[in-house]
Amino acid sequence: MSRAYTFADAVYEVVPYINGKAIALDLHLNRLCRSCEAIKLNADISIAEKEIQELAHQVLMNTNGYIYYQLSRGTDAIRNHLYANDLAPESFGYVTLTRKSNNHQKAKIVPDIRWGRCDIKSTALLANVMLMNQASLEGFNEIIMHRDGYITEAGSSNIFIVKDNKIFTPPKNSHILAGITRELLLKNFSQSFNILEEPCHLNLLTEADVVFLTSSTKGILVINEIQNNDYSLNQNHGPFIELREAFNNFLETAF
Ligand code: PDD
Repeated sequence: MSRAYTFADAVYEVVPYINGKAIALDLHLNRLCRSCEAIKLNADISIAEKEIQELAHQVLMNTNGYIYYQLSRGTDAIRNHLYANDLAPESFGYVTLTRKSNNHQKAKIVPDIRWGRCDIKSTALLANVMLMNQASLEGFNEIIMHRDGYITEAGSSNIFIVKDNKIFTPPKNSHILAGITRELLLKNFSQSFNILEEPCHLNLLTEADVVFLTSSTKGILVINEIQNNDYSLNQNHGPFIELREAFNNFLETAF
């Protein structure tokens, strides 16, 4: 039985493609490698790269989409928390053609009940699934998670908070996944747009001009409404509009 099935003993990547070109494939492969190392999964990342590229080549000629790709530890004869060291890793992947969502984003604020290694891109996402589906039952389509009042991230994306001429995002630690989209934004735009990695208290949401999310599938996505919060989105915030345009342009031209 596959350990992906019994223990979610697996890690994954989501690689975005724009006009058939992979965005930051090297960063995604590096993170896959780090995830494998963190769970002591011996996988040949050059095979992963080849399989991802083959999938892309078959389907994503000049189109936009993403590749889901996961590596799991393999199949054991009988379910056992202890794994044998000679298991052959299994890979699984698929391609999706996408159009980015512009839906009204209504977020619920929830305590972050996940484990202490959210920096590993593990397929064990049951806490995210539970929190997001409970929020959905209550009429929300996104969650903003926090630990003791400090924001960690959203259900499947990182968070940025624009206030006046500064943009804040929670620092990288084991309570968040270090998103590649987040990293691209910080590396290329933090100086020109004053983006700061700082602990973000929930109070900051109330004073924010714009709260936005980043991920490989969402790009930059604005939050329109937050539960029980005075946050009022400023649709015309000049620096934010400029940043979004510059970032989208960067994604289309830099790879
Ligand atoms: N999710 N934080 C979490 C919990 C995530 O699941 C993701 C990505 C991110 C953003 O990472 P990146 O910018 O590298 O996509 C942050 C993917 C897209 C998913 O699970 O579908």
